[in-house]
Amino acid sequence: MSDYILQLEDISKFFGPVIALNGVTLRLKRGEVHCLLGDNGAGKSTLIKTLAGVHLADKGQYLVNGAPVRFRSPRDALDAGIATVYQDLALVPLMSVARNFFMGREPVRKLFGVLPVMDHASAEAIATEKLGEMGIRVRNAGQMIGTMSGGEKQCLAIARAIHFGAQVLILDEPTAALGVKQSANVLKLILKARQRGISVIFITHNANHAYPVGDSFTLLNRGKSLGTYAKADISKEALLDMMAGGAEMKTLMEDLEGVTI
Ligand SMILES: Nc1ncnc2c1ncn2[C@@H]1O[C@H](COP(=O)(O)OP(=O)(O)OP(=O)(O)O)[C@@H](O)[C@H]1O
Ligand SMILES: [Mg+2]
Repeated sequence: MSDYILQLEDISKFFGPVIALNGVTLRLKRGEVHCLLGDNGAGKSTLIKTLAGVHLADKGQYLVNGAPVRFRSPRDALDAGIATVYQDLALVPLMSVARNFFMGREPVRKLFGVLPVMDHASAEAIATEKLGEMGIRVRNAGQMIGTMSGGEKQCLAIARAIHFGAQVLILDEPTAALGVKQSANVLKLILKARQRGISVIFITHNANHAYPVGDSFTLLNRGKSLGTYAKADISKEALLDMMAGGAEMKTLMEDLEGVTI
C-alpha cells in the first residue's frame, strides 16, 4: 500500500493567461493533518478544487492510494472518500440543522405503511447524537441552520463529512471568519478527525492556527510550492517567516512609516 493517500505530482493549472498552479507537488500521508499555507491568490483554492474534482489539472498527475485518477466531478471525488468543506459551506440557511446534516440522506418512515416520508424525529435525534459525539452541543436540531454561528456551521459541515465516511477531509479556510474560541472548536474537531484515522488537508492563512494541529506544512507562493516541512523540521517562527507576505508585509509597513493620512 502507498504511504500516501493522496498525491498531486507536478500539477499545473492555467486559467487563460493566469498560471494558478505551476508544477506543484503535494503528498498527503495517511492519518496526518497537512496544512496548506499561502497568501491571497497563492493558488490554495485552485489546488483543493483540483483534489475535489472541480478542476482537471492541465499538467501533472493525481493519485489516490498510489493509483492515478481523473475525477470528472466532485461526485467522483466524494465516491472515493474525499470530502471538501468549502469556505462558503453550501449549507441551506432556511433548513433545519438536522436536514443540513443529512442533505438528502435523511432517514425515512412509511406514512400509512406505504408512503415514504422523512422521519424528522429520528433525523433530529441522530443529528443531535452524532454532533454531540463530536463535542458539538445542539439544543434543538429542528432549529434553522441560519440561527447557528459561523463556527457552529463549520463544525456541522465537518461533522457531516466525518459521519458519512470521509477518508480525506479537505477544509478551505475553516477558521478565516471566526473568533478565537470558535477557531479553537474547529481546530479541536480537526484533531478529532485525525483521531478517527481521517487524513486532513487544512488550508489557512494563519500559521498560529496551523502549527498546533499540523503534522506537516506545505507553503504556496504565487502558484509554486516553497516545499513541504514536517513539524519536527520547522518552528512556528520559521513558518511565519516563510509565509508569503511575511517579508513583503514588513517592507510595506516600513514604507508606510512616516506617511501622514
Ligand atoms: N476560475 C478562475 N478563472 C480565472 N482565474 C482564476 C480562477 N480561479 C482562480 N483564478 C486565479 O488563480 C490564482 C489563484 O487563485 P486561488 O483562488 O487558487 O488563490 P487562493 O490561494 O485560494 O487565494 P485566497 O487566499 O484569496 O482564497 C489567482 O490569480 C486567481 O485570480
Ligand atoms: Mg482561496
